[in-house]
Amino acid sequence: MAQLWGGRFQGKISDVAWKFNASIYFDKRLLKQDVKGSIAHVTMLAKQNIITNDEKDAIINGLTQIQEDVESGKLEITDKYEDIHSFLEANLIDRIGDAGKKMHTGRSRNDQVALDMRLYIREEVTNTADLLYELLKVISKLMKKHINTYMPGFTHLQKAQPVTLAHHLGAYFEMFKRDSRRLSDIFQRMNFCPLGAGALAGTTYPLDRHFVAQQLDFYGPTFNSMDSVSDRDYLIEYLSALSLIMMHLSRFSEEIIIWNSNEYGFVTIDDAYSTGSSIMPQKKNPDIAELVRGKTGRVYGDLNSLLVTMKGIPLAYNKDMQEDKEASFDAIDTTKSCLLLFTDMLKTMKFNKETMEKSAIRGFTDATDAADYLVNKGVPFRDAHGIIGRIVLSCIEKGIGISDLELSELKEFSDKFENDIYDAISLKTCVEKRLTFGAPGPEAMKKVIAAEEEFLDLFWTKCHSPLYPDLHDED
Ligand code: ARG
Repeated sequence: MAQLWGGRFQGKISDVAWKFNASIYFDKRLLKQDVKGSIAHVTMLAKQNIITNDEKDAIINGLTQIQEDVESGKLEITDKYEDIHSFLEANLIDRIGDAGKKMHTGRSRNDQVALDMRLYIREEVTNTADLLYELLKVISKLMKKHINTYMPGFTHLQKAQPVTLAHHLGAYFEMFKRDSRRLSDIFQRMNFCPLGAGALAGTTYPLDRHFVAQQLDFYGPTFNSMDSVSDRDYLIEYLSALSLIMMHLSRFSEEIIIWNSNEYGFVTIDDAYSTGSSIMPQKKNPDIAELVRGKTGRVYGDLNSLLVTMKGIPLAYNKDMQEDKEASFDAIDTTKSCLLLFTDMLKTMKFNKETMEKSAIRGFTDATDAADYLVNKGVPFRDAHGIIGRIVLSCIEKGIGISDLELSELKEFSDKFENDIYDAISLKTCVEKRLTFGAPGPEAMKKVIAAEEEFLDLFWTKCHSPLYPDLHDED
């Protein structure tokens, strides 16, 4: 056991309590952030003449070497240490002696870990946005390709009106676009530096918190030292954003599972993203989509765990907060792997255009347009609705569609029907006439696709600037 405390203790902590208390098992992934934050801290300590330049240089060299040794596998992070902070300090002191003992001047593990997590999450917010960008690009490409691929649109999972594949996919584009903007919001709200808050009440050393914040690319220091060490809002916001991303992935997965079923046959998932059965030779299952759907519950669980952990914690730092890490890391790892796999699965998936189109013709998806036809001939909409309803009922009995009826048969229901009815309710007309902005008509779709492409260009250039500026200002 290599611990950072002990002076005021007479007895030793029990082995079981030590293990229970330790966070090294999971916070070892914060090595890079801990080194980066410590370097910024000691650079500031030297600037403020709290330590000498030689001491600062020795600390920075020592920390850099330790990081290199861990990364190359020369040095192992073991559970001899309570957490990543004590691992680094103990190893530093071993390597450079007394100067290492000055690293922690004017700092507490409370503001140190708050900084590490912010640095870690800030990077992951950007990584998540990058993955969303890749997915958005795939969707946008498919939308362009399928502007004229007709398919049924559903409500209540019953065929409703015809749409296009471009339009259906466009709905997901909107969802993931909102997700990317949410990440941008979170980044901006969280991008303040908590270091210098000390244990809870700042410190009496003349620290320059603005300088530290600047070195680490934060907008500035946080405003209240008690809040700085006990704020986990940004984590909850990020896990909420991840939960929404997962919800969108899950809904999309559910549709793909339905579309891939024998009954629908709208899509064929590539072999690379399907699995077989150990007993049924014919099976090709959409396991990846099912797992994405399944893992959504897990990310919701992580968010919930964090919300419940935080709800009763008095100010300022309490050890409960150590529980933020496993939940966050799990949510991040899970969502990132789902985004990556889902994007690849979508990219390689085959859309069976003919099957989709055939399905769009069947199931009375032209009924609304048939009613609209009568409205255009002067029949009040409610009456037209009733007439078409009766036609549909009689067609169901005969096992045919509206356009299979002869004009004379249609006229039995209303004398307003003329020969132009067949063109008015053809699949092509039904889709092409839907031209209001945001509707599936190809001309309307083209305008939306052009606007989405502009968004993608903006997203790409802006999101990669280090400070991730607000996309909303560009609207
Ligand atoms: N492992 C701790 C955590 O993750 C680090 C902070 C420890 N602070 C303390 N006062 N014991 O929260």
